[in-house]
Amino acid sequence: MSDTVRIGMLGCGTVGQGVLRILGETAGTVERATGHRLEVVRVLVRDLQASRPGVDPALLTADPEDILGDDTIDIIIEVMGGLDPTHEWLLRALGHGTPVVTANKQLLARHGPDLLAAAEEGGSDLRFEASVCAVIPVIKVLRESLLAAEIDSVTGIVNGTTNYILSEMRRSGMSYDDALAQAQDLGYAEADPADDVGGADAAAKMAILASIAFHTRVLIDDVPYVGIDELQSDDVDIAGELGFVMKLLGVARLVDGAVSVRVHPALVPGDHPLASVSGADNAVLLESTMVRQIMLVGPGAGGTETASAVVSDVLSILGSRPGSFLAGALADAGLPMAAEGSLESAFYLRLDVADQPGVLARISAVLGESGVSILTVLQRGEGESARLVMILHRSPEARVQEALGRLRDMRDVRAEPVLIAVVGSGEAPR
Ligand SMILES: NC(=O)c1ccc[n+]([C@@H]2O[C@H](COP(=O)([O-])OP(=O)(O)OC[C@H]3O[C@@H](n4cnc5c(N)ncnc54)[C@H](OP(=O)(O)O)[C@@H]3O)[C@@H](O)[C@H]2O)c1
Repeated sequence: MSDTVRIGMLGCGTVGQGVLRILGETAGTVERATGHRLEVVRVLVRDLQASRPGVDPALLTADPEDILGDDTIDIIIEVMGGLDPTHEWLLRALGHGTPVVTANKQLLARHGPDLLAAAEEGGSDLRFEASVCAVIPVIKVLRESLLAAEIDSVTGIVNGTTNYILSEMRRSGMSYDDALAQAQDLGYAEADPADDVGGADAAAKMAILASIAFHTRVLIDDVPYVGIDELQSDDVDIAGELGFVMKLLGVARLVDGAVSVRVHPALVPGDHPLASVSGADNAVLLESTMVRQIMLVGPGAGGTETASAVVSDVLSILGSRPGSFLAGALADAGLPMAAEGSLESAFYLRLDVADQPGVLARISAVLGESGVSILTVLQRGEGESARLVMILHRSPEARVQEALGRLRDMRDVRAEPVLIAVVGSGEAPR
């Protein structure tokens, strides 16, 4: 690359405008440090007339050929989002040898492997730090610092909206609906928060993290997810009384040589490193026998933070040769995905039951027959009903599900049982 690096940018919304601002503000520092002057020469948008304060209108184009067909462009930044036509455009750029930086988690969680293959074939580079946890450099740490660390598990709070909602439910005892409304008022949650609260956003991010951590192809369809939209504040409160904190966790780990990745509400012990990550922050805990535990924490969203991660990826491209080993970090190591139900975990189980003599004994017997044992029981009478909350010892999930099926059929059990995994205690899988 020559002293001037010519950049084409696809999209100029929240993140794109942040990128232009940061590149302008840091131009001197970047040139001194890298010897390169970064110049955004073309910016693709749909609506040329829309208001974009501080953006030079002369840079704008509505014709993608002005960027994709321009051989003088050294790096493409993709901050337009979506799957189509973005996927096809990035394949073309990468295959043509142009390095690409993207913030598009949905695209990567569906098409990451073929985009990386195109980058390898084209001798280019694909960088996507901004797609997961914004400014927290987790991809870089996994791809570079921990490439040979044999990661065993990646446990993350990777969605700021849900972490904010759960933190508020715990802090002030407010309901899920009130906490969501507050998150929307403060701009943490989108007008349509379905992907965040339903777990799909976290699943996309975990697919990307697991792919990099385990050098294996993991797509969003490989990641079962459950969100927090069905959670009741009672369970958040009771968990607190028992010394746990409720989180929406992404859990990726190796189980007997297979890869398991999931997103679900989980309880973590109060002294667990992830328990203190509150508000809209994100955190990722990386575990490996070689390096033990590394936790990365910080703001996981926001236009400026995401733009900062994009700029940082551009600088990484300048600092590494295209086609280097890093481009192959998602190479298919051929690990299979773990079978559903093959995992072990400790669990929180809440049962609303008839307040009659012998109920606890009958329920314990059903659990015992399925080979599930109880660590702790909390019992509360509420009129004719009683609430039983149990922490179950670590056991194979298939056994717990079998017991749950039988508990549902018991006349003593008056409402749908609530089962939540406990992660990160001595009782839970590492
Ligand atoms: N915002 C965040 O905090 C955040 C955080 C993490 C990751 N991301 C990711 O960053 C990416 C960009 O997000 P954003 O919030 O900046 O989006 P945004 O504000 O909606 O901006 C999208 C930009 O792309 C342009 N665009 C979209 N489709 C296009 C098409 N088919 N042809 C030409 N231009 C097109 C739009 O043009 P017009 O201006 O003409 O409409 C707009 O300038 C997404 O992948 C998102 O998931 C965002």
